[in-house]
Amino acid sequence: MVSQENGNQSQQTGGRFAVTLPLATLRGVGVQLGGRDILTDVTAQLRRREVTALIGLNGAGKTTLLRALLGEIPYSGEIRFDCVHGNRQQPGHIGYVPQRLRIEGNLPLTVFDLCGLSLRRWPWFLPLGTRFRERVYAMLDAVSVAHLLDTEIRVLSGGELQRVLLALALEPTPELLLLDEPAAGIDFHMQEEFYGLIGRLNRERGVTVLLVSHDLTMVSKSVGHVWCLKDGQIECEGSPHDLLHGDALARIFGSHQGVFGHRH
Ligand SMILES: Nc1ncnc2c1ncn2[C@@H]1O[C@H](COP(=O)(O)OP(=O)(O)OP(=O)(O)O)[C@@H](O)[C@H]1O
Ligand SMILES: [Mg+2]
Repeated sequence: MVSQENGNQSQQTGGRFAVTLPLATLRGVGVQLGGRDILTDVTAQLRRREVTALIGLNGAGKTTLLRALLGEIPYSGEIRFDCVHGNRQQPGHIGYVPQRLRIEGNLPLTVFDLCGLSLRRWPWFLPLGTRFRERVYAMLDAVSVAHLLDTEIRVLSGGELQRVLLALALEPTPELLLLDEPAAGIDFHMQEEFYGLIGRLNRERGVTVLLVSHDLTMVSKSVGHVWCLKDGQIECEGSPHDLLHGDALARIFGSHQGVFGHRH
């Protein structure tokens, strides 16, 4: 570890947490998959109300770490949250946009159907009312895709689908938003817009964001803090200014030429 953050000196005041108290604290987190150690000793503190990028080579375990944070896979060590929802993983406080979404290619499911299936709290066979439709419209409008309400999922572009998934991840507004390569496969213009949107969410709604990305140019423009995952642990962390230049990257990852090229 190159740097270690301040620690838990802060307290909860009047139902709100001081900004200096980490939103999540990971201690010695390890994950085994298929009999292999993927993560061995991840120790880090996720800064509250900041945007943190998680970077590392293909196969380093970035997606695995997000899944451990979600409580989706078993892990050793400790992950502690300090959220108004409590200190364990709870669906209500974590929004997640996965790296890949496998939707059956021929399923005639519209964006509205997908939102209905994800959000409704009453039996699926009851019709969805006008008020629900208005709610879904507003939710999609917040990420500029309201016009896709009745479009079938299978015809959406990669960028459009990512936005729809982001809209779902933001309903209700999460305390923590986990984004796994949210802008991969999106054109440059849309990428700028996407990262702009994430920045606004962070500033205006106070959402803490942890995003995985291979695009170091976007990362250096858009995040406040970076975690570098290597050999099953956070090898180093710091500001993009300190970490995301040739010398530091070469020291951390060896020759960095082409290392972060997107291969999916
Ligand atoms: N269910 C699984 N069973 C066995 N091995 C797995 C499983 N899921 C992931 N792995 C392995 O764990 C390692 C880390 O995978 P992970 O998807 O977390 O990497 P990543 O850092 O997200 O990579 P990328 O940048 O390519 O998305 C890989 O070697 C992968 O093959
Ligand atoms: Mg991944």
